[in-house]
Amino acid sequence: MKIEGKEYRTIWFENNVVKIIDQTKLPHKFIIKDLKTVKDAIKAIKTMEVRGAPLIGATAAYGLVLAIIENNDQTFLKKSSEYLINSRPTAINLKWAVDRMMKKISGVNSDQILNIALNEAKEICEEDIKFCENIGLNGLKIIEEIYNKKKGTVNILTHCNAGWLATINWGTATSPIYHAHKKKIPVHVWVDETRPRNQGANLTSYELNEEQIPNTIIADNTGGILMQRGEVDMCIVGTDRTLSTGDVCNKIGTYLKALAAKDNNVPFYVALPSSTIDWNIKDYKEIPIEVRSSEELSHLEGLDEIGNVKKIQVYPKKSKAMNLAFDVTPAKYVTALITEKGICEASSKGLKNLFKR
Ligand code: MRU
Repeated sequence: MKIEGKEYRTIWFENNVVKIIDQTKLPHKFIIKDLKTVKDAIKAIKTMEVRGAPLIGATAAYGLVLAIIENNDQTFLKKSSEYLINSRPTAINLKWAVDRMMKKISGVNSDQILNIALNEAKEICEEDIKFCENIGLNGLKIIEEIYNKKKGTVNILTHCNAGWLATINWGTATSPIYHAHKKKIPVHVWVDETRPRNQGANLTSYELNEEQIPNTIIADNTGGILMQRGEVDMCIVGTDRTLSTGDVCNKIGTYLKALAAKDNNVPFYVALPSSTIDWNIKDYKEIPIEVRSSEELSHLEGLDEIGNVKKIQVYPKKSKAMNLAFDVTPAKYVTALITEKGICEASSKGLKNLFKR
């Protein structure tokens, strides 16, 4: 998608270096950063220079390419894969991508290993783009249906950033929105600010602005009253891990939006590529929920009066804060899952039928 009119992807490989858009600097600065070592890739994932389930998977895949360039030794690759998997615990795409890469390169000692790894990392990215595009085409049907009934602007609420910045291109939750906009269906997006890191305000609103899609940032607690007032036609969110039962783990606050949507008969959709499905865990209590630094709550970053980026403390120094990064929305609150293969019920039956498992 575009930034200042120029097409970008979120990650690419050039001259033996992995290029990323440093998302910790957005929306105030657009900086392309080089990752030269597997350590750089791990740090980029940990510090959220890259973030969003599909993108951290792709970064981990390229991280292994960098590891091979540094030291083509199977013990080093095995260790690197473990560090990569542990760099963020909740999004399943990370483990999915590393396992997929390791399956290709484990035990390969020939000169071909770098080519094999590079091709697989590129394939993971190409596949994600295709899957996200298909999610968009499938989700477009839902937006079109609402538009045909309403004959007016379709108001869509989203949480966090499940946009192209969280993937390689298109996004998951935003892909149907981008497709609707291309088809000239009038859409307007309510963007949940998404405290504490403000991915909605800093990233979703930013990328929608760059594509000229009307959007309005709201505080995280505003969605409920908007739904009561009939100002939300549908919700679409992404996910970091969806269980085969249809339970959806996503950015903290998603669950509360789903409850409000249920109470107000607003359809609540979750958009995901199949790489985000965890086919193993059955009980959502087993999902590792990331606990992040309390500083993400107590401090805020923004522009000062002369345009410099500044970090300030907003809480009393003595106050304690707790920062759980994800929650789980039980399947019963999810109207349907929008995947690359089609739309299905959020249930074991729905997912099994669609993915023939
Ligand atoms: O902590 P983040 O910013 O990496 O989390 C990403 C999310 O939770 C997004 O909401 C998204 O839906 C999942 S990635 C498409």
